[in-house]
Amino acid sequence: MKFLLTCSAWLEAILKKEIEKQWWIITQTKDRLVFFEWPIELMAKLNLWSRVWNKLYLVLNSKKNIDNFDKLYDLVYEIDWKKYINRYYRVVTKATSIKSKLTSTPALQSITKKAIVDKMTSKSWNKMPEEDSKPIFEVLSFLIEDETFILLNTSWETLYKRWYKTDTWEAPIKESLAAALIILSNWKFDTPFYDIFCWSGTIAIEAALFAKNIAPGLFRYFAFEDWNLLPENYFFNLRKEAKEKIFKKNYNIIASDIDQEVLTKAIQNAKNAKVEDSIKFELKDFKDYKTEKLSWTLISNPPYWLRLKEDNIKNMYENIDFILQKNKDLSGWIITSYTEFNQIIKQKNYKNRKLYNWNELAYFYLKK
Ligand SMILES: C[S@@+](CC[C@H](N)C(=O)[O-])C[C@H]1O[C@@H](n2cnc3c(N)ncnc32)[C@H](O)[C@@H]1O
Repeated sequence: MKFLLTCSAWLEAILKKEIEKQWWIITQTKDRLVFFEWPIELMAKLNLWSRVWNKLYLVLNSKKNIDNFDKLYDLVYEIDWKKYINRYYRVVTKATSIKSKLTSTPALQSITKKAIVDKMTSKSWNKMPEEDSKPIFEVLSFLIEDETFILLNTSWETLYKRWYKTDTWEAPIKESLAAALIILSNWKFDTPFYDIFCWSGTIAIEAALFAKNIAPGLFRYFAFEDWNLLPENYFFNLRKEAKEKIFKKNYNIIASDIDQEVLTKAIQNAKNAKVEDSIKFELKDFKDYKTEKLSWTLISNPPYWLRLKEDNIKNMYENIDFILQKNKDLSGWIITSYTEFNQIIKQKNYKNRKLYNWNELAYFYLKK
C-alpha cells in the first residue's frame, strides 16, 4: 500500500529519519508530506505509535496534470471504492489545492463525492446515519502543482490529539510538537527532566509517555478501526501488546508553574494519561530555580506576551538565560516566539532551530 504521512513544518527531517529507521521505503517527499510504501498492517501500527505526525492517509490514486474537473472525476471514479467503503457509513470529502489550476475547494469536494457516489451505483449507502456520527470515511483530494492525490484518512482526528486533555481549552503547544522537542533534546529517560513553565503539562506528560513507552494512541479512536481492511483481531492484539510493553518504572520529571489553576488542570491531564506517578508537579515561580542546581534536561515554553509589560518579559528572559547559563550540567532548551531573546543572549552561548508552534514562527534554543 502507498501511504502519506503529514507533519508540521520543519519536522520533516525527524519524520524521514523515523521512517528510514524502520526500513519503510520512502517514494517521494514534498513540503510537510512523506510518501512511502508498506503492507496495509502498517496503518494500525503507525497510527498507534506516531508521536510527532499529524495524519496518516492511504493513497488510493494519483496522477500529474489534473487541470480540469473531468480529469479529477475520472481519477476518483477509477478507484475500487467498494473495497474501502462500508455502505452504511457517512462519507465526507475534503480538498486542498496548492499552486494548482483547480482551486475551488467546494467544487473539488463535490466532484470527488459525485464520482464516489456514481461508482458505488447503489444510492442507499450514502444515507447519513446520524447527524453527529463520526466521519468514518474522510476522502481528501489533495492537489499540489496539478499533481493530484486521492487520499483516505486512516487516523480520523489528527494524531497530535491524544486522549488526556480534560477540557476543550487548547494548550499553547501541540502534543506532537512537545514529542518532537523531546526527540531533539536527546533526553535519556532515567535522568531528571524539568519543565518550569508547565501550564497544561503537555511537555512533561509527553516526556513521561516516552519514558514509560506508552503508545500515544493507546486510548483513542482511529477511523480504520471501523473498516474491514485488517485481519480480524489484528488491532485488538496490537493494542494488547502495546499495553504489555509499558514500563512499570517511575521517572524523575518535574513540572512547575506559578498559577495554581493551570497546575490543577495539568495534574488532571497527567492522571488521565496515567503518568501522574512519574511527574512531580509544583507550584513555583521559575525564579526560585536561580538558587537550585539543575542537571540533565530542561524543556520549557515560557510566556512571550501574556499580561506582562514589555520590560517584565525582558526581565523574565534575562532570568531564564541566567538559570540556563548557571547550570553547566543542564541541557537547557526553550521554545519561544519572543524574538527579542536574541538580543538578550550572547549568540555564542546558544544554538537555535526554527519551528512552527501552531501557525506561529518559534525558535527552539539550546544552551551550549
Ligand atoms: C506559554 S505557557 C506554557 C505552555 C505549556 N508548554 C503548555 O503547552 O501547556 C507559559 C506558562 O508560564 C507560566 N508562568 C508565567 N510566569 C511564571 C513564573 N514567573 N514562574 C513560573 N511560571 C510562570 C504561566 O502560568 C503559563 O502557564
